[in-house]
Amino acid sequence: MTNVELGLPALPAKPYPQDVHERLAADARELIGRYPVARSALLPLLHLVQSEEGCVTPTGIRFCAEQLDLTTAEVTAVATFYTMYRRRPAGEHHVGVCTNTLCAVLGGDQIFDELKQHLGIENNQTTDDGAISIEHIECNAACDYAPVVMVNWEFFDNQTPESAKQLVDDLRAGREVRPTRGAKLCSFKETSRILAGFPDERPGAVDESGAGGTPSLAGLKLAKGEALPGTAGTKVVAPRHEGTEA
Ligand code: FES
Repeated sequence: MTNVELGLPALPAKPYPQDVHERLAADARELIGRYPVARSALLPLLHLVQSEEGCVTPTGIRFCAEQLDLTTAEVTAVATFYTMYRRRPAGEHHVGVCTNTLCAVLGGDQIFDELKQHLGIENNQTTDDGAISIEHIECNAACDYAPVVMVNWEFFDNQTPESAKQLVDDLRAGREVRPTRGAKLCSFKETSRILAGFPDERPGAVDESGAGGTPSLAGLKLAKGEALPGTAGTKVVAPRHEGTEA
C-alpha cells in the first residue's frame, strides 16, 4: 500500500533531549522489528513514550510519528481513542475507580467521591506530591469482584471507601501494598514499559499473575453441574450432557 501524503502540518512539539531520543529510538526499533508492517507497532510505541513521561505528550506523538512514518494527526487519532493513553501525567501510582454499572451500585460511586475528597483532587488530577493520580474508569471485566479499584492496572477487589482511602494512604507513605490478585505493584511508568512489550523484571511476577478466582469460575462450575463451595452439595444446574437426549 502506498502512503498518501496529506500535506498536514506536523504537531508543534519539542523533540526529546538527544540522549532520551537515542534510548527510546533503540527501544522503538526493537518493537517495530516484531511486526511485518511498521505502523502495527503504534500501540506499543505509545506505551513506550508513556513510560517516559507518564502520559502521551505532543513530544511523544511526534516521536511515534517519526519512527513509524506516520503523520502526527494519525498518531493523535489513535492516542486519543484509547483511554489507557493519558493526556495528563499520571502520578507514581495511577488509581482507577470503576464507576460502571455494577461497581457503581455496589459502592464505586461512593468510593470515587470519597477518594477525591480524601486526596483533594478531581478526576484526572494528580496530588501535589506526584504520588497519586485518580481517574474513574469503565468496566474492568471484574464485576464478580465489584466494586473494583485498580492501581497501575492491578486489581484491588471488593473495595469500600475505607479500604480505598487506606490504600492510597499506604501508597503515599511508601508502604508495600499488594493487589488482591496479580503481581506486586510497580510504578505507572514501569507498568507502561511492560505494556509496551518489554520483559517484566519483577522477580516472580509472571508466576504471581494468577488464574481465575472462585467467583469468576462459579458460573463455569454451575454449568458443569458441580456444586459450589458452601452450598452443601446443592447442584442448581444439570450437567450439559444430562437431559439433552430425547
Ligand atoms: S462494572 Fe466494575 S468491573 Fe465491571
